[in-house]
Amino acid sequence: MTTWIGTSWKMNKTLAEARAFVDGLVAARDALGGVRAFVIPPHTAIAAVRERLPSDVPVLVGAQNAHWEPAGAYTGEVSMGMVADAGATLVEIGHSERREYFGETDDTVARKVAAAAAAGLTPLLCVGEPAEVRAAGGEIDWIAGQVSRGLSRLAAHDLRKVVVAYEPVWAIGDLGREASPHEIAPVMEMLSTRFGPGGDARHKISAVLYGGSVNRFNAAALLDVPGTDGLFVGRAAWDVAGFVELVRIGARAGHGRQPDAG
Ligand code: PGA
Repeated sequence: MTTWIGTSWKMNKTLAEARAFVDGLVAARDALGGVRAFVIPPHTAIAAVRERLPSDVPVLVGAQNAHWEPAGAYTGEVSMGMVADAGATLVEIGHSERREYFGETDDTVARKVAAAAAAGLTPLLCVGEPAEVRAAGGEIDWIAGQVSRGLSRLAAHDLRKVVVAYEPVWAIGDLGREASPHEIAPVMEMLSTRFGPGGDARHKISAVLYGGSVNRFNAAALLDVPGTDGLFVGRAAWDVAGFVELVRIGARAGHGRQPDAG
């Protein structure tokens, strides 16, 4: 199966910086075919990134958030249709920063997942347990619950459009610490067998990614964890050289995987 390697820029990059990143991607275009690569700019740069990416450079463009309603009096929000119109084909939903700072709940996440799929977008559903849940050994139940609730409004035939990213809250960002493969393995296995391509359920999501303090030193070992279909990266991929290096690591890891089904 092709390995997913993606980055969200969070609240970073001007238009000029976004275009420079794309130029770096184009320069490394030969590497990109070996993975399923995606880049998630801030809303202001989605269209600029999409327009500057030549159509034969295989990089998906995403949005970091969008509202579930198609239109209306929601000052400051953008709809799924609007981000699709700007060139996004996937939408990140429920990142822990959105849950913590912007009041995202399992209910808003579920509405957004369903709205994204209905708009023809790939919902990238982010889940992760806080440190205290991990300390108490409750991560499997926490993550299974977040995913179940996040998918609860989705039509069964839309499940296969979904990608889930497991990102433990304690592993994300400058204050996070790297997770070991051993720490994430039980969660990745649960996600893959219960919801993802590793399971035998009739309806499955399409991929399970890992994110949180991923870098070029730990990426290969994290990709080796069974059930891990790819990596979702912040800081280590904001520089295009860092992103391309992770793409190369992902391509090497992909060679050892089973071929894509269907
Ligand atoms: P990080 O961010 O790689 O900078 O820890 C990961 C994320 O928030 O997705």
